[in-house]
Order: sequence, then structure tokens, then C-alpha cells
Amino acid sequence: MSDSTAQSEFEDAFHRVAERHERVWIFIAMLLLTLLLIGTLFFVVIDYGVVAKTGGYQSFDPTTAATESFAGTGLVRTGPNAYTVHMLAHMWAWTPSPLHVPEGATVTFYVTSADVLHGFQVQGTTLNLTAVPGIVGSVTYTFRHARTYNIICNEYCGIGHQNMIGRIIVDPEVRK
Ligand code: CUA
Repeated sequence: MSDSTAQSEFEDAFHRVAERHERVWIFIAMLLLTLLLIGTLFFVVIDYGVVAKTGGYQSFDPTTAATESFAGTGLVRTGPNAYTVHMLAHMWAWTPSPLHVPEGATVTFYVTSADVLHGFQVQGTTLNLTAVPGIVGSVTYTFRHARTYNIICNEYCGIGHQNMIGRIIVDPEVRK
């Protein structure tokens, strides 16, 4: 009888301890989740705010040198049917866009990013290159058909990624 009473007291004590530990760990888990949520929201707001406020690329040190030469240049003719263009990826657009290209032109794209990794892909072509901040990549393609191409970003780059679409318009050659 005294044995069963002792056992019962032991079980009660065990359950009290276990419940207290459970409560502590539930509290710790909830606290961590809450901190994670606050932190995530904080960085989303901060990150978005920085991008919206600057409107330029000067504040992004690693890419300043690369992006300066990318400002405002369009298609540059380098030979018969040969062209170059400096294509800048930034959150969340392509510059220059729309880009007009004459039919039959062989275009070398120099591509870099002003902020984060982007993916330079032109639908319906073999143009596919990762735009890396601080690094200029190049790729060449001959546009044989007069049509409009979409430049899409194929590297997840933030909240506007899915809307990061540019245009390449291949103008028909004027035949004499
Ligand atoms: Cu730029 Cu995704």
C-alpha cells in the first residue's frame, strides 16, 4: 500500500516536472518562431526600402565600376551587321529595354548586374547567361527573324522577379 502511494507520488511529481519542461520548450519554440517572423519582416522591409530609395547603383560598391560603363548606352555598331550592347540587370528590370535590333544583326551582349544575381535569358534564342554583380559576361547571337523577343530573368532575385521582363524588337530589314 505504501508502495503504491509512493509510486503514485512519483508519477505525479514526474508529470509536474514533464509538464513544466514542456511548457518551457513550447515557450522557447514560440519565441524563436516569433523572432524569426519579426526578423524576416524587418529584412524584407529594409531591403525593399533601400532598393526603392536609391534609384541608382552608386551605393553598391562591388558593382560601381562595372555599372558606370553600362549607363545609357544602346546598340553600338561595330561592323557590317555586327553590334554590341551593354545590358544591365537590376531589381527588377533590364536596361536598355526595349532594345531595337535590325534583322540579321549579330549582337554581342555584355551583361552585368547592379545588385544581385539575375538570369539573362532571351526566349526563343540560345541567349542564356547569369548576370553577376561586379562581373561582365558576354554572349553573342544573330537575330535572323523580325519579331519581338522577351528578356526574362531566370534567377530568383526578390519580390519583383517574376515581373522582370524586357523586350528585344528585331526590326525588319528594308529591302531595296
Ligand atoms: Cu532578376 Cu529574377
